[in-house]
Amino acid sequence: MTLLVTGGAGFIGSHFLRIMREQYPSLRLVCLDKLTYAGSREAIAPLLEDNRFRFVKGDICDGETVFTLFDEERPDAVVHFAAESHVDRSIEDPALFLRTNVLGTGVLLDASRAFGVRRFHQVSTDEVYGDLPLHGGVSPFTELSPLRPSSPYAASKASADLLALSYFRTYGLPVTVSRCSNNYGPWQYPEKLIPTAIAHALRGESVPLYGSGENVRDWLWVEDHCRAIELILHKGREGEVYNIGAGCERSNRALVGELLALLGLPRDAVVQVPDRRGHDLRYALNAEKLMRETGWRPQVSPERGLALTVEWYRKHPERLQTVAERGRESRLGVSEAGGLRG
Ligand SMILES: NC(=O)c1ccc[n+]([C@@H]2O[C@H](COP(=O)([O-])OP(=O)(O)OC[C@H]3O[C@@H](n4cnc5c(N)ncnc54)[C@H](O)[C@@H]3O)[C@@H](O)[C@H]2O)c1
Repeated sequence: MTLLVTGGAGFIGSHFLRIMREQYPSLRLVCLDKLTYAGSREAIAPLLEDNRFRFVKGDICDGETVFTLFDEERPDAVVHFAAESHVDRSIEDPALFLRTNVLGTGVLLDASRAFGVRRFHQVSTDEVYGDLPLHGGVSPFTELSPLRPSSPYAASKASADLLALSYFRTYGLPVTVSRCSNNYGPWQYPEKLIPTAIAHALRGESVPLYGSGENVRDWLWVEDHCRAIELILHKGREGEVYNIGAGCERSNRALVGELLALLGLPRDAVVQVPDRRGHDLRYALNAEKLMRETGWRPQVSPERGLALTVEWYRKHPERLQTVAERGRESRLGVSEAGGLRG
């Protein structure tokens, strides 16, 4: 059995690969990743030694690379993480998101169809539903909620989801889709809220907060996300969408306060910065369908997960540097330890 994982050198994909290796020692794992700024070989370093693992540096948008890989590997299943994933970057450069997230998904779907893949799992986000009002107790999104993406990132993910589901309806490709809330844990690139906050705090700087900081996100420990995908591969029904969320809603201000407290700093060491354009107010997901059909339950509480995350970044301060910062330091001869992506 061969599983192709796209974007496996990124934050969530690298955890997924490690967990799949632990759970299924004889499974052949193939990772296709372009190694953009967000991907790193270090995140999958232990796997690189494993003879049932193959890493291919390549672009999901490149039909020749993708079709050749499918021809060589004949994957039984594909779990598709590869994406441009940062909302702010999508506001700066929407075309890149359209290319990778929509056209790239299209290439993978075509290859999956051509080579008779038995499951194509599209990893998506709760952001496709848009946002909920901050006040008024509006119920969390279900899989039947309308798609109302706010950012070019979310719109590109919604488009990819719809494309994948159309391949199920039109061609009978066995597709499943999962839409997960905000993930956190080790190996997240330091442009996202939690590692950014930890980086500023450890440098003794105030943590920048968009706008009032009242925006609410629903947080999930990254390994709980990966285990949900594993269960959907086993028990999920083809053509279905599954929300993944643990109902851990926090305002950004409250979350940053918790991180600062874990670091032994005052909870209010924050500074307000101009709000993100089109900034979603509240995300909240109803994951009852996933729990009912697969038995999934989150294993790690936010208190424990946040403590583990802070601890990990304390031990790996080089992962709090952006690629540009690491490059600058290594050019100056300050540190080679960060090791840029290969
Ligand atoms: N991070 C979250 O909170 C979250 C929540 C829900 C869903 N998701 C989804 O999960 C997936 C993974 O998210 P992440 O946070 O790990 O992202 P990430 O940005 O950390 O990693 C993305 C990976 O995709 C690779 N990649 C990018 N463009 C590529 C291309 N053209 N060809 C091949 N590889 C390419 C990158 O090199 C990187 O390794 C994404 O599809 C994202 O939309 C993320």
